[in-house]
Amino acid sequence: MLQTIVFVLVFVLLGLSVVGVAMRSGRRRKPAGPTRAERRVTAIGVTVLTLVLGLAVPALVLVDNSESKAEDAPGGLELTKAQAEGRQDFKIRCAQCHTLGASNAVGKVGPNLDQMRPPKALILDAIEKGRARGQGQMPGGLVSGEDAEAVASYVAAVAGRTN
Ligand code: HEC
Repeated sequence: MLQTIVFVLVFVLLGLSVVGVAMRSGRRRKPAGPTRAERRVTAIGVTVLTLVLGLAVPALVLVDNSESKAEDAPGGLELTKAQAEGRQDFKIRCAQCHTLGASNAVGKVGPNLDQMRPPKALILDAIEKGRARGQGQMPGGLVSGEDAEAVASYVAAVAGRTN
């Protein structure tokens, strides 16, 4: 959306400047080249355009991308802000032991969360207390408080969605 607006604006500006130049040269009688003042105006115009095209547009695109990508999940799912943060924590705290397609996690120590599709409450319980029922160990308290909520909410939302 933002990109489209910037793109259109740049071309509108270009079009207007072409029209301006055309009108001015039509009125001018003397065939001599541009005056010093006119050349300066042109130089400033080119500089400004270069700055807009070279810096502002990429910057806007980058900002736009970073905002939207963090909340894009498989299956067209949109994550909330908290879930996007949970995704970050999952990568750091959980991915080494668990498989979860939405995070490209392929850990084999703990159960595959895509197959298990655990509900949020179970995830929170596992995070809080840890697990050691004979299939390996998961330490408790890897994340806590709001972070635990965010991770649990993220996993519950994306588990089983791998495309
Ligand atoms: C050191 C490896 C390891 C890490 C890190 C780890 N887990 Fe686990 N997880 C396990 C193992 C092993 C089990 C199964 C333990 C058992 O049942 O004996 C497990 C079980 C689970 C279960 C199933 C609980 C149940 O009752 O069946 C969930 C949900 C879970 N983990 C989520 C997470 C989340 C979320 C994180 C990140 C905060 C995480 N795990 C980090 C190893 C890990």
